[in-house]
Amino acid sequence: MLIDSHAHLDMQDFNHDRNQVIERAIKGGLSRIITVGINMASSIAALKLTREYDSVFAAVGYHPHNASECNRQALNKLTETASDPKVVAWGEIGLDFYRNRSLRDVQMNVFLQQLEIAGELGLPVIIHDRDAHNEILSILKKIGKGDRKGVIHCFSGDTNMAMTLIELGYYISISGVVTFKKASLIKEVASNIPLERLLVETDSPYLAPAPKRGKRNEPLFVTYTAKEISRLRGIEPDELAVALSANTERLFDLPAVS
Ligand code: NI
Repeated sequence: MLIDSHAHLDMQDFNHDRNQVIERAIKGGLSRIITVGINMASSIAALKLTREYDSVFAAVGYHPHNASECNRQALNKLTETASDPKVVAWGEIGLDFYRNRSLRDVQMNVFLQQLEIAGELGLPVIIHDRDAHNEILSILKKIGKGDRKGVIHCFSGDTNMAMTLIELGYYISISGVVTFKKASLIKEVASNIPLERLLVETDSPYLAPAPKRGKRNEPLFVTYTAKEISRLRGIEPDELAVALSANTERLFDLPAVS
């Protein structure tokens, strides 16, 4: 049983078959899916999906691409939703200095505000880091160490960076990129970091793993990512799945599967 620690089930790519996608994942052996908000509408849609499926949990927050839409009132409203037991994290938040869809200062400000809220709520954060490794590291170092601080999703740094984050109390989530032949850096990270800090995710509908590369991604495809990690680490897929699920349950404080 695997958990997809990061999907965007509310996205319009799933409008014509969302229910089948979720049912396919559950029948295919996923025990839970965490669907992650990127702004107000998406966070509310994520929460709504948790009402329809016991296996679906939500994260709420403003993605760096959407930082310019964010304001105090919106954050207050999201803070209210976060008291719902099915909201298990604050995210997706972070910095994206590759696409720069919001101004860097705005991204930074919105990121810092959300880190503060999550800290007050005691919720782990889901962090997006694209071409902003130094900024993310320096901010998280300033905040300091803790247990279940959060996860760096679609991790794209090196092993050193991963180890620094792990020491601070973060988990490292590996996406389908690890299945790509030339992705040597992330293969190295997935092989070397402590097993107890590793998560897997799809980031669906984006980033489909091989052999589905280029197609729409969906939560069930996390199985390809886990299979590649079990090959890289030389451990049985079942053993890996047990560890990954335990990590995800610990980080997000997920209730036991009934
Ligand atoms: Ni995402």
